[in-house]
This record gives sequence, structure tokens and C-alpha cells, in this order.
Amino acid sequence: MRIAIDCDDAGIELKKTILSFLKSKGADAQDVNCLQTNPSAMYPEIGFNLAEKVKNGEFDRGILICGTGLGMAIAANKVEGIYAGVCHDVFSAERLRKSNNAQILTLGARVIGPELAKTIVQAWLDSEFLGGTSLPKIEQMKMLERKSFHPIK
Ligand code: RB5
Repeated sequence: MRIAIDCDDAGIELKKTILSFLKSKGADAQDVNCLQTNPSAMYPEIGFNLAEKVKNGEFDRGILICGTGLGMAIAANKVEGIYAGVCHDVFSAERLRKSNNAQILTLGARVIGPELAKTIVQAWLDSEFLGGTSLPKIEQMKMLERKSFHPIK
């Protein structure tokens, strides 16, 4: 599983922590580092950029970090076919994969500390979509997304 990670100015330290954590677990993680290319990049550009890389198949999953995780989730969800959610507890991180089949986890560096963030990332890594009763909900989400992105004129 190829994992992309990126952050805005508020998430730099937590991104370093999570990247080393992923590497210590043997994960195939890569720092997209949008701020290196554009030092004035803000969370919408950073989140959208990583989400596009997941959409085009360069990565399987992504982790985005900003101050609250909220802006990154909103930005990533603007890419068609990409589903992102902010999680600051382990149960939500599991459900984000098991129920919502979201490819992108977002974290708020101003909300949680590094140890909880690592535990959340581990739970998210260990979880996969379960299908079952969640499947028609995901299908409905995709149908609504198509309606919004491709309105019939
Ligand atoms: C700081 O730019 C802050 O607005 C950002 O990191 C994030 O919390 C937005 O959701």
C-alpha cells in the first residue's frame, strides 16, 4: 500500500512524527511536501494536490495534516472519487475505512498530540472496507457525487 502524506504550516512537526512512525512500521510512505515546491501554499492547494495523486493511482491512501484536520478534509473531498475524514479518536479512524471506505485520513496538529495521532494512524492502517450494509450507502454517496460533479443540463 502506497501512502502519501502532506501538511500545511500548522502540521509540519506532526507530519515528521507520522512519517517516521510509518517508516518504522515498514510502510511505503512518501512525503509529497507541497510546501517545498510552493512555500506559500495553503491547505486547500495542499489537500487537493495530494487527493489528486490518490485519484490518479499514484498512491493508494493519503494522510493530510493541518491545524484542525478540517480544512484538509474539505479540500480533499473536492476531488471527485476521493473521500476524506478527520479523525481524532481510534474508533472513528477504524470506521473511516470499515464503513466509509475513505482513502484519506486527516489530522489536526493543534487538536491531538503525537502519541494519539500515531495510534489513530495505526488503527486506520489496520482497517479495510467491510462492505455489507455500508455498500449501498457508499453507492448512494457516489451517485450524489456524480449528480453534483456532472449535472444533467
Ligand atoms: C492554519 O492555516 C489553519 O487554518 C489550518 O491549518 C487548518 O486548521 C484549517 O482547517
